[in-house]
Amino acid sequence: MKRAKISALGCYTPPRVLTNHDLEQMVSTSDQWILDRTGISERHIAPPDIATSDMAAEAAKTALAQRGVDAAELDAILVCTVTPDMLFPATACLVQHRIGATKAWGFDLVAACSGFLYGLTTGAHLIACGSHKKVLVIGSDTMSRIIDYTDRGTCVLFGDGAGAMLLEAAEDGEPAGFMDFLGEIDGSGGDYLKMPAGGSRMPASAETVANRMHFVHQDGQQVFKYAVRKMHEICKTLLERNGLSASEVDLLIPHQANRRIVCATAERLGLPIERVVINIGKYGNTTAGTIPLATRDALESGRLKKGHTVLFAAVGAGYTVGASLWHWAY
Ligand code: UT7
Repeated sequence: MKRAKISALGCYTPPRVLTNHDLEQMVSTSDQWILDRTGISERHIAPPDIATSDMAAEAAKTALAQRGVDAAELDAILVCTVTPDMLFPATACLVQHRIGATKAWGFDLVAACSGFLYGLTTGAHLIACGSHKKVLVIGSDTMSRIIDYTDRGTCVLFGDGAGAMLLEAAEDGEPAGFMDFLGEIDGSGGDYLKMPAGGSRMPASAETVANRMHFVHQDGQQVFKYAVRKMHEICKTLLERNGLSASEVDLLIPHQANRRIVCATAERLGLPIERVVINIGKYGNTTAGTIPLATRDALESGRLKKGHTVLFAAVGAGYTVGASLWHWAY
């Protein structure tokens, strides 16, 4: 079995920034409330002509350029998103064509905020079985397209962004790469965070549009309580089954949904906050984009280094839950 390693990383966020002060002009909220309850100060918003595949392609090109890999060398492209350009064709096909990945197959993966971790694990297994040499995993979400900017309970939370990680096989004996993954889904929580219309259950109609059913609907408190409990549980179980204590984790890179969820997870695990990456302040919740964006920031600030043991963790709509352990390769 080959061991997959992350060999390059690229991200993209659209230039326009929507601040908490901007939101104060749009809904009844305040910079202080948003900061205190979520940790978010600002988020990036895509212009009308930019869709999920555009951000994904930019992130992909940056990752490939970093490693000097031609898109034609890719064996597979996995795009993790809940905001595809269209219901079909898959965004992976649009990205494949755009970047010229002439040999690659691929697909979209829908697991909301856990999407990137599910994609990373799937990609790692494609590498492990030896049939794939280079797999590109992309998390890209244009959340602003499905957010109701009259609903203060959700519109302050989300932003747009994308990130891509290139997976390749580690050299024999190289102490780098994928260690383990644990995932869980729990459909009993499906009603607490969803976009009700636009699928086969409730196709688009004048009525669904009038009732604002094509936007994110969330019971924030339910999701919050579940996320706090499960982020900790899944990390603890994964560490235990790998014989690791929290003190052996160099960096926790969690999904960025709410600063309080991340801090509660760190506290329950007994991890000092210095070993946790929190960048929600600048981006909000970009759904499948948060983990690559947070990893990029950790790398650029020098906090993430070659050889580090990294714990990724996420909870999202579905519910979906996931955590994975990696030795950082570069
Ligand atoms: O990516 C995974 C999915 N998402 C999540 O993980 C999000 C999980 N949930 C959360 O992060 C939090 O539940 C929220 C940030 C969404 C809300 O924070 P909260 O502390 O749970 O607030 P709440 O819903 O209990 O609301 C408290 C009060 C309410 O007013 P009353 O009823 O006490 O008068 C809300 O109406 O805050 C009010 N409120 C706001 N006030 C100002 C809700 N949203 C806002 C707002 N500005 N934007």
